[in-house]
Amino acid sequence: MNLDVLTLFPAWFDWFRTQRHVANALELGHTFEAVDMRASTPLNWGQVDDTPFGGGAGMVLRVDVMEAALRERYGVDPVDLREDRRVIALTPGGRLLDDALAGELAAEPALTLLCGRYEGFDERILENFCTDQVSIGRYVLSGGEPAAMVIGDAVLRKLPGVLGKDESAVEESFSEALGGAPEYPHYTRPADWRGWGVPEVLLSGHHERIRQWRLEESRRRGEGGGA
Ligand code: 6GU
Repeated sequence: MNLDVLTLFPAWFDWFRTQRHVANALELGHTFEAVDMRASTPLNWGQVDDTPFGGGAGMVLRVDVMEAALRERYGVDPVDLREDRRVIALTPGGRLLDDALAGELAAEPALTLLCGRYEGFDERILENFCTDQVSIGRYVLSGGEPAAMVIGDAVLRKLPGVLGKDESAVEESFSEALGGAPEYPHYTRPADWRGWGVPEVLLSGHHERIRQWRLEESRRRGEGGGA
């Protein structure tokens, strides 16, 4: 996986790259790079955005600035770049990220995430340079950067070998193995704390009964719609 994030705040991703699972992915040869859109702007004084035609509050990321950033990075017309890789604009109204979409993106060889700022993107960026728009929830962030980190985390942890040997992404919350339901509850030592015990079955050593109990609990939580 070759994952690029185009942003006005590349330094924000420095600590993100040090996270264990991300660092594991990088060691395996995957890439996660933050590309500074301001560095390639064709405008003076590092300008990247402008006031909206028709008036109104806020600033809009310019289409010429985005084109220059994509050309500088990939050396092709961004209109054609979409044949080589998915180019995803991070927008509050985009397709909602869920486990299925994270899995779909993890199967791609290369992704580019575009972070908007302020009031967002000039519409011509979305129409002509992007294959998708993705959102991490129906609320507005000040920029796409936190969403890019959320997507990077959810996608990279799905790549083979990225999680530690004692971890697995197969039987976790919302996965196919659990029928899309949340995960079953976990317990560890101490077996008793202030009189709060642990379900007897988990201490039984009876693997088949434990498996059944976990499936049942997962299903029950799914029906309850949380908690
Ligand atoms: Cl992907 N971007 C922005 N700016 N706000 C959001 C979002 C994305 N997802 C939810 N809110």
